[in-house]
Amino acid sequence: MSDLVQLTKDNDIAIITINNPPVNALSPGVPEGIAAAIEQIDKDSSVKAAVLIGGGRTFIAGADIKEFGKITSGENKRGVGLLPILLRIEDCTKPVVVAIHGTAFGGGLEVAMSGHYRVAVAGAQVGQPEVKLGIIPGAAGTQRLPRLAGVAKAVEMCTDGNPVKATEAFKVGIVDKLIEGDLLTGAVAFAREVSGKPAPKTRERNGKLGTPEENVPIFAAARENARKKQRGLMAPLAAIDAIEAATKLPFEEGCLAEEKLFAECLFSDQSKAMIHVFFGEREVAKIPDVPKETPIIPVNSAAVVGAGTMGGGIAMVFANAGIPVLLKEADQAALDNGLATIQKNYANSVKRGRFTQQVMDERLKLITPTLSYNDFANVDMVIEAVFEGMALKKEVFGELDRICKPGAILASNTSTLDIDEIASATSRPQSVIGTHFFSPANVMRLLEIVRGKATSKEVIATCMQLSKKLGKVGVLVGNCRGFVGNRMFGPYRREAQFLVEEGASVEAVDKALYDFGMAMGPLATGDLAGLDVGWRIRKEYRHLEKPGVRQPLAEDQLCEMGRYGQKKNAGWYKYDAKRRPILDPEVSELVSKWAAEAGIKQRQISAQEIVDRCIYALVNEGARILEEGYALRAVDIDIIYLTGYGFPNHRGGPMWYADTVGLKKVYERILEFHQQHGYWWEPAPLLKKLAEEGKGFADFDKAKSAGD
Ligand code: 3HC
Ligand code: NAI
Repeated sequence: MSDLVQLTKDNDIAIITINNPPVNALSPGVPEGIAAAIEQIDKDSSVKAAVLIGGGRTFIAGADIKEFGKITSGENKRGVGLLPILLRIEDCTKPVVVAIHGTAFGGGLEVAMSGHYRVAVAGAQVGQPEVKLGIIPGAAGTQRLPRLAGVAKAVEMCTDGNPVKATEAFKVGIVDKLIEGDLLTGAVAFAREVSGKPAPKTRERNGKLGTPEENVPIFAAARENARKKQRGLMAPLAAIDAIEAATKLPFEEGCLAEEKLFAECLFSDQSKAMIHVFFGEREVAKIPDVPKETPIIPVNSAAVVGAGTMGGGIAMVFANAGIPVLLKEADQAALDNGLATIQKNYANSVKRGRFTQQVMDERLKLITPTLSYNDFANVDMVIEAVFEGMALKKEVFGELDRICKPGAILASNTSTLDIDEIASATSRPQSVIGTHFFSPANVMRLLEIVRGKATSKEVIATCMQLSKKLGKVGVLVGNCRGFVGNRMFGPYRREAQFLVEEGASVEAVDKALYDFGMAMGPLATGDLAGLDVGWRIRKEYRHLEKPGVRQPLAEDQLCEMGRYGQKKNAGWYKYDAKRRPILDPEVSELVSKWAAEAGIKQRQISAQEIVDRCIYALVNEGARILEEGYALRAVDIDIIYLTGYGFPNHRGGPMWYADTVGLKKVYERILEFHQQHGYWWEPAPLLKKLAEEGKGFADFDKAKSAGD
């Protein structure tokens, strides 16, 4: 036995307890410990049955994801190595009852399915989330799950990767009994009941594997669905193949088919990228100079100033998390408008079955509309979301400073303005911070948390922790123009426009990036956000433009014509009544004309050049941001792009993608662009340095976390 697995006894029932905090992952030592316990149980004639349970807050949450990198690098030669151990559990001569609380995910559910029975508390969850890591179940999950839950359910669970509640797992046959009260007591009693009876082996239960007539349409529909909804991903299709193998081959051969598909996925760039994302989402929560022990300010109530596009969405975010929120507007009409939008959004969710009318009513009750700052003295946090203008923001913050209680967090949702200058309107800059939500605020997962020079560690720690409670991924960024996400988005969209001006069609630019995996093409994104936003900003800052440096011209011209994008039913595209984009030949003619007037020569442009120009523009700006310290790590930039800008998970974010291509290659391409296009393509010094040293951004992050 190892320290990670303990074997104890309750009279004639053996109890195997796994203790590998925090989530009882199947790290080296855990599977071996379980196997050793089973050996002993088999030999001990006083034992009639066994219970396998997780110590601490959960059952096994899966294979140890850290091991996967070691397998692909060759450091771990053993592989996942679970299959024989699961067979050993299944072949135990005494019934093994698996007791589930918390999460039985991935390898955890595979272990559970190798037991003879599964009991669970109602709050438990089971799932095969491997697909979210770009892999498929690798310890016979695709073979045992259809045998317990049926083919359709197994396909669903292995392709969407979403958890299933114990109550549903009971209904579909994964769980044999729901336990009320203490899990171990219930599991031991259950084990006593089944001891002495023949124990069913999952691998021999073929009753739910269906007939070809039943299965063919299930697999066909699942493949179509995966191709549409999980565009470009290999794992969902591989999972379907593996389950299909379960329906056609004997168990052992099915396992071999699964093993092969698992390895193909594990060694792919996709899986490496998605594992980077898994750890990245957790890494961004770690701020080197804000230790875990930093005191947190309780946020039990909040207020939002401004009920426009963002303010309304932010109020919903708080209400969704159960936090009462005041919503203040400047006048009654704007307030009514804001509330009507919130109601409409909630009603849509109810219509779509996301939650019930009762939930909607409860959430609405948490939002209190107001026209005054009267009750602001009592709230723990305020988020300002008024128009983007420094004078107005300062006026609001001056007011908040007068009214709010000491220690209340004063946050701004500004997307471009200087947080320090906003803070200067108060007598407590340590309480001021940027919380930059993304539109639609109630949907997008990203929350850029902008640290001002005086922002206190308590305020930072609180906002980082709060982001999780709000269902967001909080990423701490520095206070520069556009912060991290929008600062990089500028060059990305600039290149998209330049490409059209140089002769690429609107459709070709959007398609190349969509095919790369972006949720939307950059021009369609511009239409959605409103081309006029950038136009207004450019007009304001025209005096800062460097003479002789090429500026994008097409969007300004489109705006001059009133083509602001979707809101005007015309921008880069035309839009029908259902807001579907329609290519507009007039736009390409106009752009050609404008290009000719500006002396820009048009030419044929390949999809590869489109992708390289747009994505490397992100990478180059990202490298500058890193070097200047406005992002803590390259992975922080990746997470920002994955959660806020529709960058595809399976590419791991722009910086990870650049590493995958190889920074030397990226740097050389940027030099090429520099030669062709000049100023904008000056390579970032950090990119040059890493490329010349043969390193990647991941090395930069490693060195940083090692304190170099
Ligand atoms: N392996 C290694 N580390 C893991 C892990 C795993 N399977 N699951 C979680 N961790 C780590 C996290 O990185 C985090 O570490 P940190 O504190 O150093 O940042 C710590 O455990 C706590 O995790 P969370 O912060 O995510 O804790 P939560 O309570 O919010 O969530 C959870 C718990 C729901 C279990 C969530 O961690 C999760 O979804 N984990 C991944 C589950 C998964 O994907 N399992 C399948 C693995 S692949 C597999 O099993 C292949 C098999 O088929 C062979
Ligand atoms: P909006 O124009 O939709 O809403 C602003 C609202 O503030 C209006 O309803 C206005 O009546 C109200 N308001 C103005 N002064 C007020 C006052 N003194 N008290 C109370 N309410 C007042 O603007 P939007 O788009 O919601 O933007 C708000 C902020 O969020 C801006 O700083 C913007 O830069 C930022 N932002 C916007 C994003 C977007 O996609 N729209 C994304 C991220 C940030």
